Amino acid sequence: MTILVTGGAGFIGSNFIFYWMKGHPEDRVVCLDKLTYAGNLSTLKPVMEHPKFRFVRGDICDREVVKALFQEERPEVVVNFAAESHVDRSVTGPEVFLQTNVMGTASLLDACRELGVERFHQVSTDEVYGDLPLDRPELFFIEETPLHTSSPYSASKAAADLLALSYHRTYGLPVTISRCSNNYGGYQFPEKFIPLMILNALRDMPLPVYGDGLNVRDWLYVEDHCRAIELILQRGRTGEVYNIGGHNERQNIDIVKLVCKTLGKPESLISYVADRKGHDRRYAIDPEKIHRELGWLPETPFDDGIQRTIQWYLDNKAWWEEIVSGEYQQYYEKMYGNRR
Ligand code: NAD
Ligand code: DAU
Repeated sequence: MTILVTGGAGFIGSNFIFYWMKGHPEDRVVCLDKLTYAGNLSTLKPVMEHPKFRFVRGDICDREVVKALFQEERPEVVVNFAAESHVDRSVTGPEVFLQTNVMGTASLLDACRELGVERFHQVSTDEVYGDLPLDRPELFFIEETPLHTSSPYSASKAAADLLALSYHRTYGLPVTISRCSNNYGGYQFPEKFIPLMILNALRDMPLPVYGDGLNVRDWLYVEDHCRAIELILQRGRTGEVYNIGGHNERQNIDIVKLVCKTLGKPESLISYVADRKGHDRRYAIDPEKIHRELGWLPETPFDDGIQRTIQWYLDNKAWWEEIVSGEYQQYYEKMYGNRR
């Protein structure tokens, strides 16, 4: 089988490629990635020369490129990770989010429709449900929770979900969708909360906590997400949405304190800064459906996963030093320079 993985030079996509190639050595894996600021070819170094792997640099919005690749490779399965994924960037510049996340998904769906696939899987997010209040801990997102987006990022992801489902209903395209909670693990771009805190702490820089630091995210180790997608590809029902999350809710401030403690850094590095516009308060997934239908449960306890992740950044200094010494510096200055 040939599986086309878009966005495979990013955080979750690359972890998925490693995961898939280990468990399915008979499959051919083709990665299509534009290599935006978030894509990193050095991440894919371990598989670059593998005979069953092919990397193609290209934009999912470029319909000619996409069609030619489909004609050449005839993938049976397409997993779409490619996206603009950072909420803060969507607040300052929404347009590229609409372009990649909506129009890019549309271009892939049309190629699937034209050339035929056994499965198109859309990697979506729990952010499409909006947020939950802090004082109602009994509430969770289920697949039927109304879409109620807060940021241009989440709105663009919700639009893509609806488009994918419409292709299932209208054209009978075999579509599945997963909506996962916050991932953490190795190869995550340093703009995201956990790697940002680890790398700032390692360099004795301030740790910028938005607002009161009490916002809650439901953290899942990236490999558990990859295994959930594998199960959906193998046994998920087409036309269905599956929520993925491990009942691992943490307040942001507690994670920052844990990072400080693990790295032996003082909490005086913590700096409360202006809140994110439209900042979602709490995310919490009810993963009952994927557990009941596909037997999925998270396997990595947070305490293990976070230690492994911190160790990964300690062990892979060259990977992140190259990133933080480049255009990331301008991004950091723009986002955090005058943030009070
Ligand atoms: P990422 O930003 O680390 O990686 C995105 C990848 O997509 C990069 O390699 C980038 O080069 C590529 N890309 C961007 N635009 C492209 C385009 N037009 N054409 C081709 N490639 C393009 O993102 P991530 O955190 O790995 O997220 C992957 C997917 O998972 C996204 O769809 C995101 O919405 C979803 N998701 C992420 C999380 C999370 O916690 N990170 C949780 C749930 C869902
Ligand atoms: O829930 C899934 C989503 O998780 C994915 O769809 C997104 O692609 C992914 O980026 C992530 O979105 P969040 O906005 O939850 O993640 P982020 O890492 O940007 O922030 C996590 C929390 O930490 C959030 O409450 C904002 C806060 N934060 C973030 C940064 C970067 C800070 O307090 N300080 C920071 O510097």
